[in-house]
Amino acid sequence: MLLMEKLYITYNQIHNTVKGLTEEIRESGFDPDLMVAIGTGGFIPARMVKTFINMPIITVGIAYYDLDDNQMDHPVITQWLDQPEKQIKGKKVLLVDEVDDTRATIGFCLDELMKHEPAEIAVLVIHNKNKAKKHEIPSYIKHYFVGKNFEDPWICYPWDAEDTEEQDRLALQS
Ligand code: G4P
Ligand code: MG
Repeated sequence: MLLMEKLYITYNQIHNTVKGLTEEIRESGFDPDLMVAIGTGGFIPARMVKTFINMPIITVGIAYYDLDDNQMDHPVITQWLDQPEKQIKGKKVLLVDEVDDTRATIGFCLDELMKHEPAEIAVLVIHNKNKAKKHEIPSYIKHYFVGKNFEDPWICYPWDAEDTEEQDRLALQS
């Protein structure tokens, strides 16, 4: 069996990618009111975006396990908005996650957020994998900000590393 290629990424690389993405957002004219960060991978990227474009961050949680720990073949909400009619309705939302892999989670979140009638939703991901997706990007999405495109490696994020100096060394080699 072929081992999946591992790609190690450093915090500095993520920071620089986020910085570039925020420049793209400014140039696009899209002026978000708030971010919705998909946990947990979207948490740190969303906070990094906030350094460059200051706005509130709301977090949501999606899992593939139900409350009885049964594995599900579709996403399940584990944490959602408190008052979506106040938080989302009429607002310009930037949905943030670290990676667009199968797009199942991002697609599900978009469908759910649209129920609350935002003025606009844009998506920001640090990385996208060029592979078959489980969800199309809906036609109402005018802005899809992608930091870097890869084929299909397993991306090792710095927030999953216990030793970030070792992570930096591995990233230099990959
Ligand atoms: P997508 O909509 O963002 O494409 O997500 P998808 O449901 O396909 O991905 C399922 C889980 O696998 C997600 O984690 C996603 O972050 C994670 N994942 C996919 N590809 C990679 C990768 O190359 N590296 C790493 N480290 N993770 C990957 P999750 O269930 O949202 O959990 P969490 O890690 O965000 O807490
Ligand atoms: Mg995730």
